[in-house]
Amino acid sequence: MDLRFRRPGEGHHPRTRLFLLCSPHNPVGRLFTREELTTLARICARHEVVICSDEIHCDLILDQGKRHIPFATLSREAAARTITLMAPSKTFNIPGLGCAFALIPNHSSASASGPPWPGSSLR
Ligand SMILES: Cc1ncc(COP(=O)(O)O)c(C=O)c1O
Repeated sequence: MDLRFRRPGEGHHPRTRLFLLCSPHNPVGRLFTREELTTLARICARHEVVICSDEIHCDLILDQGKRHIPFATLSREAAARTITLMAPSKTFNIPGLGCAFALIPNHSSASASGPPWPGSSLR
């Protein structure tokens, strides 16, 4: 599975406000490279799109020597527009506990009451 960026912004709809990212990817198990994630962050920043990054599989890396890169660690700006979803259910095989959490550095990015940054109209 590839993230193919033909032209920056291609495929972006003007009403798009949220990009759902599954990283590492489920079901293919793909780890995205820093370059791919950085390109994605740049595109989302250009279009003022929030990234909801489901990183629930981050502790289940099977490729020796490869590391998961949390989307929110790419840059301060990326962190400010990222909602990271995590849970112990995969790593520790405890889905029955129903325990999960979201990391939201910029609280307004998850708020229905206000725009997360100037010019945005996330509702
Ligand atoms: C990528 C991903 N995120 C989240 C979940 C939800 O996990 P759970 O409800 O077990 O915590 C799943 C479950 O299969 C998943 O594959």
